[in-house]
Amino acid sequence: MENQLISTVVHDRLPDNYVRPETQRPRLDEVVPDADIPVVDLANPDRAAVVAQIGEACRTHGFFQVLNHGVPVELMVAMLAVAYDFFRLPAEEKAKLYSDDPAKKIRLSTSFNVRKETVHNWRDYLRLHCYPLEKYVSDWPANPPSFREIVSTYCREVRDLGFRLYGAISESLGLEEEYMKKVLGEQEQHMAVNFYPKCPAPELTYGLPAHTDPNALTILLMDQQVAGLQVLKEDRWIAVNPRPNALVINIGDQLQALSNGRYKSVWHRAVVNSDRPRMSVASFLCPCNDVVLGPAAKLINEDSPAVYRDYTYAEYYSKFWSRNLDQEHCLELFRA
Ligand code: OGA
Ligand code: NI
Repeated sequence: MENQLISTVVHDRLPDNYVRPETQRPRLDEVVPDADIPVVDLANPDRAAVVAQIGEACRTHGFFQVLNHGVPVELMVAMLAVAYDFFRLPAEEKAKLYSDDPAKKIRLSTSFNVRKETVHNWRDYLRLHCYPLEKYVSDWPANPPSFREIVSTYCREVRDLGFRLYGAISESLGLEEEYMKKVLGEQEQHMAVNFYPKCPAPELTYGLPAHTDPNALTILLMDQQVAGLQVLKEDRWIAVNPRPNALVINIGDQLQALSNGRYKSVWHRAVVNSDRPRMSVASFLCPCNDVVLGPAAKLINEDSPAVYRDYTYAEYYSKFWSRNLDQEHCLELFRA
């Protein structure tokens, strides 16, 4: 029900169905503050160094930030601003887009999977299919009036960046530059515009609980003023500070499979705070449904047997959405 959206009313108390049991709370005082996640400057003319840095980051963190990534900074600012404007629209306007059906390609929703979950998350989100743009843009929100133009320009730029990163990531695994592009084929692109309102009890709940991303590669545009993303590193949660003008990149489950487990699709979560609302814009590149995925042949040998079996993305994705976010790593169900 659209009245479940949390961005339409101000809450002075956390409703009971958002409160996690004691053992599942974020324990914010144990989080490593100001953590360093690797930073890669894509303008570095030494291509081999860039490839090596990306490879190292994918192995050790599954996450990195990119600078000089080619997505214009004004566009990033405009994207975040129009996202805020969208969530400030009147409740009646937002209600038109509300759906809790994960199969819908364009929908405004809340939490994660409200139909299945028992405890909700302190997040509203707008989910959009973005590729090919011509197919979807006319179904996107018509308000704010600049939404479609800004978001489609942003989508094109981010897609281009994603494909450049595929080249570097392929090379870093010793594969030909075009490998991922070829194997993943013409890919879908989805966007989650995540809005985390101010929360009256951030210690008791999540914006998004721990999860890994089921797609291939994620490009995250974070609010430059408010932190909230945390990444699991050696059994501790580390807080990622927004770096001016950077985009955050993470390896999704499909690249972990493709790399035969060399690169990790790492657990991450979003926490909330009581001072300020926070926005993030996640762009997901993902294979089409009928694409067959599995470890690259070149990465399988006697010392490194296939860790995962082959499967289609359709099979993977339906498994992912049939579960709760914070269960075991979904890839565990696809072991060879
Ligand atoms: C996601 C995600 C993190 C954030 O949307 O998959 O991990 O900081 N978001 O919003
Ligand atoms: Ni995620």
